[in-house]
Parts: sequence; C-alpha cells; structure tokens
Amino acid sequence: MALPHVLHTASEVATLRHQLSEQGRTVALVPTMGALHAGHLALVDRARELADVVIVSIFVNPLQFGAGEDFDRYPRTLDADVAALAGKADFVFAPDVNEVYPERIGGEPVPAKHAGVVGENFEGASRPGHFDGVLTVVARLFDIVKPEVVVFGQKDAQQVFLIRNMIHQDGLPIRFEVIETIREVDGLALSSRNRYLSEEERAAALALPHALLAVARHALHSPAGELREVGREVFEQYPLVRLDYLDIVDPTTFQPVSNDYQGPATVVVAAVVGTTRLIDTENLERLHA
Ligand code: PAF
Repeated sequence: MALPHVLHTASEVATLRHQLSEQGRTVALVPTMGALHAGHLALVDRARELADVVIVSIFVNPLQFGAGEDFDRYPRTLDADVAALAGKADFVFAPDVNEVYPERIGGEPVPAKHAGVVGENFEGASRPGHFDGVLTVVARLFDIVKPEVVVFGQKDAQQVFLIRNMIHQDGLPIRFEVIETIREVDGLALSSRNRYLSEEERAAALALPHALLAVARHALHSPAGELREVGREVFEQYPLVRLDYLDIVDPTTFQPVSNDYQGPATVVVAAVVGTTRLIDTENLERLHA
C-alpha cells in the first residue's frame, strides 16, 4: 500500500492546495498530534468517505501544554505514524514549530485565539490556557490547509464544542465531522497517553468508562444530581485513580445541567492515573428529571 507523501512546510501545502483546487478536488483534514492509534485511523477512514484527498497533520502543539505537563515526553513517532497511514491518507503535514508559528522566528508573540468561558471549565480549569492553544493551532492549520472537511473525535468533547463554535463564529466554509470514541474491548477509550500507563494503572484506568456506564444506566430514572453522585462513587473503588471532575453538561452550552434538566446531555470525566491524565465522555440521549 502506498505511503502518504510527507510535507513539512506551509508553502508545500499551499502549492498542493492550489493544484487540488484547480483540479476541483476536495480536501479533508484530520488534525492530530501523532502517536496514532486506531481511534485516529477511524477519523482518517471517515475523512476518506467525505473528500477526494485526505491530509493528516501531525504536530505536537506547544501552545496547548502548560508548564509541568507532558509536552517534552509526548510521544513523537513520525515514521510509525506515516506507516500506519499507508493506503489511508494521501498526505501527512508534519511541520516544525516555526512553520506553524512563523512569528516565533522574529521573537514576536503568537496572536492567540480565545476560548472564552467554556474554555475555562473542566479541562480548561485544570489546564489553564489549554483551549486557547488548541484553537490557535487549529485555526492556523485550517488557514494553511484550507480544508472543505475536518474530522475530530468525540472523546475530546469540550474541544469539539469549542472548535465547532469557532468554525461557526468565524464563518469558515468547513464541514465539521465528529466521530464516536473508539474503545478497547474492555471499554477504555483509545488515547495516545494510554501508552504511559503501567499494567496496574491500565487496569485502574477502567474507572473512567465504568463511571460513564454507571451514569448511563441510571440516566432514564435519576435526576442530574444523583447521576453525578453515581458516577463519582465508582471512583471510590479505584484508589490508584484521582478523579478531577465528573459532570453532566448541556451539549448546546457545555454548562452543567440543573437537577430538573430534561433532554440530551453529555457526561464528561477526567482523572489522573499515576501521572497520566485521562479524559472520557458519553452522550446521553435524554435525561428525565
Ligand atoms: O486533539 C488533538 O490531538 C489536538 O488537540 C489537536 C486538535 C490536534 C490540536 O493540536
């Protein structure tokens, strides 16, 4: 199977984009930070269904990591990633930091996108500035690649909410496609960070999907307050895991729902297992107060 062509510069992508537009071919972009797993490959497969040409970007974005986070140890596995994309993606865009943020060359600050109040909750509360960094890089990648379609994974529910909003607010002519979380057979959501887990931590990480399952089981007959308790109680059985948050939000606002809320809802959870921070999410069709 053919390996994707690897492009490293924004100008190579601009030339390609120009040629593709001339040929009337559409482009789907799958933004990633590499360390690809089956969850990413599912995004790429969906991208393949929606456009003529699939570009996967691989860039570990320094702006979305806080001090003391795992930027330095984040896995960088470009050769393996390119091999995994054989027969699936047409191009990989693997820029270095100066290609994405050319202002850095002259020592200028990078103008940031702002995620607003939703960006300060949940992941944003534990990782201040994280979503400003995510939106900034995603806007840059959209600007460089100019895709007709982009594909993201639902596991990062807050990121999905904020990027959808940005596309809407900035009036970008982009189809925003979200696909469901891909899980291991025992329920653990696939994540590039799972590779940090020891065997014991890997077993303990099941606290996250187990909590989501417990909430989903009670969703038809318990109000939101009780559901939060049901989910949080699951973590008491996992002493290796430190729960950061488990909450139930309105998918249209990403704000926690009130106790008498009825309607579709999203459960969001984050926890630290050893030194590894994991997140997960589940959509609930309907809550009945
Ligand atoms: O979800 C990710 O892997 C990253 O946040 C993204 C969207 C590629 C931006 O760096």
